[in-house]
Amino acid sequence: MNIFQGKRILVTGGTGSFGKMFVKEILTYEPLEVIIFSRDENKQGAMNQEYKNDPRLRFVLGDVRDYHSLREVMRGVNYVFNAAAYKWVPAVELNVYEGVKTNIIGVQNVIDAARDENVEKVVQLSTDKAVEPINAMGMQKALGERLTTTANLYRERDGVRTVFVSTRYGNVLGSRGSVIPLFRSLIDAGKPLTVTSFEMTRFILTLQDSVKLVIKAMEEGVGGEIFVQKMPAHTIRDLVDAMTEDLPEDKKQVVEIGIRPGEKIHESLIGFAETPRTVDIGDYYVILPQIQITAIEEKYKSMNKQSKDFRYTSDVVKRLSKDELKQLLKEQGWLS
Ligand SMILES: NC(=O)c1ccc[n+]([C@@H]2O[C@H](COP(=O)([O-])OP(=O)(O)OC[C@H]3O[C@@H](n4cnc5c(N)ncnc54)[C@H](OP(=O)(O)O)[C@@H]3O)[C@@H](O)[C@H]2O)c1
Repeated sequence: MNIFQGKRILVTGGTGSFGKMFVKEILTYEPLEVIIFSRDENKQGAMNQEYKNDPRLRFVLGDVRDYHSLREVMRGVNYVFNAAAYKWVPAVELNVYEGVKTNIIGVQNVIDAARDENVEKVVQLSTDKAVEPINAMGMQKALGERLTTTANLYRERDGVRTVFVSTRYGNVLGSRGSVIPLFRSLIDAGKPLTVTSFEMTRFILTLQDSVKLVIKAMEEGVGGEIFVQKMPAHTIRDLVDAMTEDLPEDKKQVVEIGIRPGEKIHESLIGFAETPRTVDIGDYYVILPQIQITAIEEKYKSMNKQSKDFRYTSDVVKRLSKDELKQLLKEQGWLS
C-alpha cells in the first residue's frame, strides 16, 4: 500500500515539463484518478492522445487565477500538486502583474480551494530563484512559499485538516524554455550558441529527481516545511563545452551576450537567513518556518540545525565536470 493508491490527485500545470513526468510516475502508484488542470486545450488533447484516453486521467480546462474553477475541480480530491506557474524570468520581468496573478494570487486560490474542499495535502513547487530574489518571478515564488507556509495556521487555529508544504529546486535539465533545449536548437540550426556568461553557475537536476523530491515532500511533510533537493551545479562554460565538444571546429561558434536583467551569476537554494532553521535529512534539506507550527516543532525538535556559516549556493556545492555533464546529457537524450 502506498499513499497514492486509490487516491484522487490533482496536478495544476499537469501538461508542463514537470506535470507530464509526474503524471507518468504517479500512475504507477495505482491512484483512483489523476486530474490535469491547465489552460491550453491543445496541450491537454495531445497528452490525452499519448495516454490513449486512459480512464484514470481527467483533463480539466481552467486557470489557477479562478478560485471557483479550483474549488469545483478539487471536489473529492485527496492531494494537490501546484505546478502551474509563470517561470520564465525575462517574461515575468516585463509582465510583473501577470506573474502576480498566477504565481501569488493563483497560489492563494489553490490554498483556499484546498482548505474549503477539505483536501488532505497540498504541495507547492518553488525554485532557487525564490531565494534572496532579485527578479520579479523569484519574488513572486518566494511569496508563494510564504503563503503556503502560513496556510498551515488554518489547521492550527481553525481545525482545518489540510497540510501545506513547499519544495524548492534548481534548473531542471532540458525543461521547456531552459538553456539546454535552446542550445540544442541553435546547434541543430547551425547557429552560434548565445551564452549569457561563461562564469555563471547553475544548480542542475533531472525531471525524475524533481518528481522524487515532490513525492518525498508529499509523503513526509507535516505542514510548513520547504523541502530542498541536494543537487550538484555546473558552470555555463562546462555546459557549452559538453554540448559542442564533438562538433566539427567550424560549428563551435559561441557568442557571449552578457547577463540579462534579473539574472544572478550564482544561485542559492538555501538563503543566509534560513540556515539556522535548516535540517539535513539525507538526500534533502528541510527549511523550517519562522512562524510557530506545532506539528513541525514536534517532528523536528531533536534535529540539529545548520551552522551560521553554512552555504548552499551553486558556486560552492559539488560541481559536475564537462564529462559528467556529457554523460548526463546523453542519458537524458540531449546528446547522441
Ligand atoms: N523548469 C525548471 O527548471 C523549474 C525549476 C524549479 C522550479 N520549477 C517550478 O516547477 C513548476 C513547474 O514548472 P515546469 O517546468 O513544468 O513549467 P512549464 O513546463 O512551463 O509548465 C507550466 C504548466 O502550468 C500551466 N499553467 C501556466 N499558467 C497557468 C494558469 N494560470 N492556470 C493553470 N495552469 C497554468 C501550463 O499549461 P497552460 O499554459 O496550458 O495553462 C503548464 O501545464 C513551476 O512552479 C516552476 O516554478 C521549475
